[in-house]
Amino acid sequence: MSNLRSLVAKVPKAELHLHIEGTLEPELAFAIAERNGLALPYSSVAELRAAYRFANLQEFLDVYYACAGVLIESRDFYELTWAYLERARDDNIRHAEIFFDPQTHTARGIEFPTVVEGICGALEDGWRKFGMSSRLILCFLRHLDESDALETLAAAMPYRDRVVGVGLDSGERGNPPRKFERVFHRAREAGLVPVAHAGEEGPAEYVREALDVLEVVRIDHGNNALDDPDLVAELVRRQIPLTVCPLSNLKLCVVDDMASHPLKRMLELGLVVTVNSDDPAYFGGYVNDNYVAVAEALGLGEADVVKLARNSFEASLLDEADRTRLSGELTAALTSLERSDGSKP
Ligand code: HPA
Ligand code: ZN
Repeated sequence: MSNLRSLVAKVPKAELHLHIEGTLEPELAFAIAERNGLALPYSSVAELRAAYRFANLQEFLDVYYACAGVLIESRDFYELTWAYLERARDDNIRHAEIFFDPQTHTARGIEFPTVVEGICGALEDGWRKFGMSSRLILCFLRHLDESDALETLAAAMPYRDRVVGVGLDSGERGNPPRKFERVFHRAREAGLVPVAHAGEEGPAEYVREALDVLEVVRIDHGNNALDDPDLVAELVRRQIPLTVCPLSNLKLCVVDDMASHPLKRMLELGLVVTVNSDDPAYFGGYVNDNYVAVAEALGLGEADVVKLARNSFEASLLDEADRTRLSGELTAALTSLERSDGSKP
């Protein structure tokens, strides 16, 4: 299995499901809190890490929103994003599609431009220094109401050149996609690409609504879509990608254990599956850890790992030329691996 870890480390990949606020490691949270003269509701890094035991999505969200409360200045958002990009580079991530939750910050009086400018400053440096491309996706908090989301969309309009898509996150149960029909309609009219979290804790019906009502091009998570064979058939037929997050699913009790994760079944069904880290500071691993954990538990082989990496580029929002270029990097990496160890991945 160490061979598989080394293969995972060596293949170039894209990350397509990553909440930037979910990359806030406890050490950085405390450092930023101190600089901003704020206190976290935990006395130490160890006490905060000890709080990372979640029985469901909401228990996680409570800690995640509390920690995000230390982010005040553009510099804080820059440092948060930069730390993620350095970590992602170590995992051979060549392209990242990054969610941010503006309402988590604007509700505390932080201006939208402060957030976006800090994040984008780091993304630009990631491109210049690492050649890592990125796209920014604005997520609406689905536990808040439509008017709040509409205001947030309006605040994003001057940043149309930097925000390429809209998503939907936060507590899923009781907050169906149709609640945001008009918001997504307006976002699509403005040329933003629609995606949505669906089928993480919510039913297959929410995945159906995300497709039919929000007209999303990609589903974040999507696990519970498997309960509806007609829906699966449509996802396969239309090749709608799923951004699956194995360690997140384990930590949030979406699956009982990794051995019962549906990822292998999803691949066998012909779904366009990708592997992602979601909120890696909280869920115990970045992208490579997710690949290895799910591959070990489900007995995935080298061809599966390569397929998942290939899917990550194919399912990205990049244009065809960039998808082809990155997929070519993957092919070149495999060729050089074959040459160096004589084995065929
Ligand atoms: N699900 C819903 N909302 C979120 C998540 C998630 O996994 N991470 C951050 N916000
Ligand atoms: Zn997520």
